[in-house]
Amino acid sequence: MRMVDLIAQKRDGEKVDIEDIETFVREYTDGNIPDYQASALAMAIYFQGMHKEESSALTKAMAASGDQLDLSAISGTKVDKHSTGGVGDKTTFILSPLVAAAGVPVAKMSGRGLGHTGGTIDKLEAFPGFQTELDQDHFLQLVNDYKIAIAGQTGNLTPADKKLYALRDVTATVDSMPLIASSVMSKKIAAGADAIVLDVKIGSGAFMTDLDSAKELATTMVDIGKSLGRQTVAVLSDMDQPLGNKVGNSLEVQEAIDVLRGEGPEDVRELSVRLAAHMLVLGGKVEDVSAGEALARTYLQDGRALKVFRDFVERQGGDPALVDQPERLGQASFQIPVKATKSGYVTHIHAANIGQAAGRLGAGRMTKDDDIDYHVGIELYRKVGEQVQKGDPIAVLHANEESVEELVQFVRDSYEISEWSAEPRPLIFSEME
Ligand code: URA
Repeated sequence: MRMVDLIAQKRDGEKVDIEDIETFVREYTDGNIPDYQASALAMAIYFQGMHKEESSALTKAMAASGDQLDLSAISGTKVDKHSTGGVGDKTTFILSPLVAAAGVPVAKMSGRGLGHTGGTIDKLEAFPGFQTELDQDHFLQLVNDYKIAIAGQTGNLTPADKKLYALRDVTATVDSMPLIASSVMSKKIAAGADAIVLDVKIGSGAFMTDLDSAKELATTMVDIGKSLGRQTVAVLSDMDQPLGNKVGNSLEVQEAIDVLRGEGPEDVRELSVRLAAHMLVLGGKVEDVSAGEALARTYLQDGRALKVFRDFVERQGGDPALVDQPERLGQASFQIPVKATKSGYVTHIHAANIGQAAGRLGAGRMTKDDDIDYHVGIELYRKVGEQVQKGDPIAVLHANEESVEELVQFVRDSYEISEWSAEPRPLIFSEME
């Protein structure tokens, strides 16, 4: 294959050979194709899109470009969940013990946060002593014995995606549906999932800000999953305001524990229950989503999911007493209220800005080597649709420094307060399989 011919074919909208895509991924990973040719191809894909077979081939080749986890030693259908990224999203801590309680194995490899969205591994490390570095045998053993383990990504997973993503980031080619879809799906497939539930977020805190593009991304990912033999479903959910009321590492863990206790905010609970229900269907435990929801609700109400979570924290080195008393996870030194400057109804909370504000307080990293502060973050006292009076606290910053006036203003500006209440957005827009 001559790389220049592949670029020209894609530029002209012709269908390209699957073998050429495989060769491109292999040779680019090995350093035999220069970045300028790979970026020309990415730009041609950006404008011309990809046929289904092409994006499947790209995904498969990227998944095969490095280590691939072999989960065959774990009995049962391994169902993974992936969210396209959001602010305040703590559903993993709720649905993982829920489905594990029903006997569906959760063998989850998760990442750390970068930018305005937090990472599952960072949030778990809010438990002092929690071990996220597990060697592969130990990880497989835990899932086989107890149905749940969550570990940080190790090994050399999808190096082709890492290289291509870094290139896309600096060549304005991140926002290409087939490239996003192949990037996400290659990582799930390399992580060994038999079936995948995708939570595709829509709104001001998400990659996809409108329903049509979220649907297109969801369809592309579901098609790729199926073409590679993985049952895949997508749930399209709202991210036009943060999920739940708490954003920040230990704050989010506390809120997840509230939901596991049968309390906590409705949006977090409802989304967790729906995603868990799909996982229970794919894991072969129930016939349909409504039976899955009923089972998930039972396990939340009778404390079974909470017990699985407590035991999981203990096995991975955390103190289970903190699950019973999550307020002991610690708190930041200062609680600084953000007050409404007018009366009315909250019509929008800019989710990405809230995530950014939490990051600037220290909850996230700007570069991958930054340390994070587990205790800082933002608590939302008012969500969309609620009424406020001038002077009411609408949010609280949990900070470890006192002078955060600029962030107080930034969070205040992230709220839109209008005279009339807005039509509420659905929590779940649609589902695809
Ligand atoms: N997330 C990914 O993993 N890949 C993309 O291309 C975009 C978002």
